[in-house]
Amino acid sequence: MRIAVIGCGYLGAVHAASMAEIGHEVVGIDVDERKVAALRDARAPFYEPGFEDLLQRTLGTGRLSFSTDMADATGAQVHFLCVGTPQKHGEYGADLRYVDAAVESLLEVLQPGELLAGKSTVPVGTAARLAELVDGKVPGALVAWNPEFLREGFAVEDTLHPDRLVYGLPADGYGEAAERLLDEVYAPIVARGTPKVTTDYATAEMVKTAANSFLATKISFINAMAELCEATGADVKLLADAIGYDDRIGRKFLNAGLGFGGGCLPKDIRAFMARAGELGADQALTFLREVDNINMRRRIRMVELAREVLDGSLLGKKVAVLGAAFKPDSDDIRDSPALNVAQQLQLQGAVVRVTDPAAIENSRREWPHLDYTSTPEEAAAGADAVLVLTEWRQYRELDPVAFGQHVRQKRVLDGRNALDREAWTSAGWTYRALGRRAG
Ligand code: UDX
Repeated sequence: MRIAVIGCGYLGAVHAASMAEIGHEVVGIDVDERKVAALRDARAPFYEPGFEDLLQRTLGTGRLSFSTDMADATGAQVHFLCVGTPQKHGEYGADLRYVDAAVESLLEVLQPGELLAGKSTVPVGTAARLAELVDGKVPGALVAWNPEFLREGFAVEDTLHPDRLVYGLPADGYGEAAERLLDEVYAPIVARGTPKVTTDYATAEMVKTAANSFLATKISFINAMAELCEATGADVKLLADAIGYDDRIGRKFLNAGLGFGGGCLPKDIRAFMARAGELGADQALTFLREVDNINMRRRIRMVELAREVLDGSLLGKKVAVLGAAFKPDSDDIRDSPALNVAQQLQLQGAVVRVTDPAAIENSRREWPHLDYTSTPEEAAAGADAVLVLTEWRQYRELDPVAFGQHVRQKRVLDGRNALDREAWTSAGWTYRALGRRAG
């Protein structure tokens, strides 16, 4: 099949290469010339394990190309819309300017019988609005909503082996034609028996925001329990293990710590609340405000904990921050809890040095006033406290004995409950973590 993927950010670039991998002829379109140039050269514009290999392989087959010119999407049977929908500046709602611009330019090339398949996370109601627009301009062209659930760090795996397919289809007579086209795109995935949910536009749009809201709620639930553990002397890690054995609850996404960040969960729950408000259903989602509040409180608590450990004052104290990305195996620093804490510490007078295996370049660009080093040992040199804020494997596997040689004071704060407390305390470290007793 001939496929166009409009928007080659995280989602689009991985989707384009993955669709070429399963045999389609794919063109990825993006307005950013530098991004297109990098992708053509098989260089990933972001850190994602396995992606560059996939890019190289699929470019090598000749089935994958990239372009800045929408005219190159001409003749594609399916046009995937993968542009970003960031949070509006100073507001909760999603900014749809990239969606609208992409669709406007796609309408110049779209032909009857071709399918516009939306993948971006959008406020419910967007697909219906776009379908009306498409119908007015190109009668006979189809619109479907086909949300994507990939996680950063597992993007290739999640795209090639999704745990479900969701098709939001038009209610009119075009539904079957749209479903057939999507089935043809995903033929090997459908053939494996991957569960498929076919539904209307609104449900498909909501599946994505509901899933992300559930995940965010699960994280904030365990972080609320962590607050109680701190008040009672209980241990949130053991609590999570114990409730997680109940398979109605499940242990995944019950890791207490600094909470969620990144380009999806925070902005998606806020956009969902904003949209519910517009629809007169804001009461249904007031709990998400609390989910957001609990999440943000963890960052403040982390700074308090650092102050406590540093004998009541941060002024002039040397603090090593291990981790800048919002999660491991990513160079993404959008809404990063780690950088937020690093900045708070610096504002309160600490001398902060940040390290990360992949996100230093991005961090330097966005947060130029912080001090960066490339290794945890350099960050820790002469430090009064070490804060592990992103649970990279490199940090989980640090040898507390050897690492102890670099610091001035052996105090470690485990912001992700990821270290082996026993090993660190036996090596003479004061160990503190969110939701757990001092070790
Ligand atoms: C998320 C969804 O998982 C994915 O399905 C959707 O398509 C996009 O949003 P992603 O943002 O890549 O993916 O990250 P995810 O792995 O979900 O982690 C989100 C945040 O939650 C991270 O900051 C992570 O550190 C935090 N988290 C996750 C916790 O604090 N505790 C947990 O138990 C799990």
